[in-house]
Amino acid sequence: MKTYNFCSGPAILPDEVLQEASQALINWQNTGTSILGISHRSEEFQSIASQAEQDLRTLLNIPEQYHVLFLSGGASAQFAMVPMNLLGHKKTADYVNTGYWSKMAIAEAKQYCEVRVIAEGTEAALAKTWNFHKDAAYVHCVPNETVEGIAIHQVPDCHEVPIVADMSSCLLSAPIDVNKFGLIYAGFHKNIGPAGMTVVMVKKELIQEVLANTPSLYRYALQAESRCLINTPPVFAWYTAGLVFKYLLQKGGLEEMHKLNAQKAQLLYQAIDQSHLYQNNVPQACRSISNISFQIKQPLEALFLEQAKAKGLLNLKGHRSIGGLRASLYNAMPIEGVKTLIHFMREFENQHA
Ligand SMILES: Cc1ncc(COP(=O)(O)O)c(C=O)c1O
Repeated sequence: MKTYNFCSGPAILPDEVLQEASQALINWQNTGTSILGISHRSEEFQSIASQAEQDLRTLLNIPEQYHVLFLSGGASAQFAMVPMNLLGHKKTADYVNTGYWSKMAIAEAKQYCEVRVIAEGTEAALAKTWNFHKDAAYVHCVPNETVEGIAIHQVPDCHEVPIVADMSSCLLSAPIDVNKFGLIYAGFHKNIGPAGMTVVMVKKELIQEVLANTPSLYRYALQAESRCLINTPPVFAWYTAGLVFKYLLQKGGLEEMHKLNAQKAQLLYQAIDQSHLYQNNVPQACRSISNISFQIKQPLEALFLEQAKAKGLLNLKGHRSIGGLRASLYNAMPIEGVKTLIHFMREFENQHA
């Protein structure tokens, strides 16, 4: 049976990438060695790492004045690393709270500085400006809230205060202007690769000072100096990300991805909005194209999930914090997957509404 996996993360990767990566697990480029057994200090790995960086720079048009760091650990580590590395001599940072992951970032940052929440909820996502403080070290936001499916499509300008963006669930889903941000981070396990690594793009000038007692692995400047090889990185995750970047370039880059992603999301939102059984309460202008959270109006959720699974439509359960249903439509989700889901949703509605 053909299956479609709508998991929010760890998420699906393109079939072509999985094919090549699985081959590399056994015999990487006919070297007789598995990719899992090559030294991270070998010339071969150096070439994988620099090509991955180069390809990511091309995809996102990352200017020279930004470091691109491939770091071990999930995006949650950035909740601490950001204040540790960006506060400098400042004592406060501004945070925008649009949902679950914003709150996680805020809770962690409070251990290192005074956090001022400057905007909240969908209003924050829709605002043209935020009331940031000029003395804040940075303004932190989550342009795509993976749990609620709320997106900030236009991040307001904060002038002299650098914007830090957790783009874990939207990086590579559409083109972005990196110049608008002081720092962007994204965990691998949505659009980039296997879980366990995070990519950070940071303006070089922002990381001159670091909090005392910050562990070496958590220091951006030290990581940049050692090309992210202070210790043994998850070589396979890094390698696979490189394959994903190459795949995206071959597919025409992020403009093309965005067209497809917008089309997939539009189809699903339309189906939800037209139905009497499903609903999505996120205002149109801040709906995510990556994660679509929706509810079923009657207590039919368990049955929906069971029947969906039987049809090969997997991992549609909403996040444990809010329940409901959620379909994640990352780059690797083909439009056929979305159409199959919509077909099933209509059938289910006809049976039960
Ligand atoms: C927006 C966002 N930030 C942070 C995280 C946490 O990532 P990790 O589990 O890699 O620490 C997630 C989770 O998947 C996320 O969706």
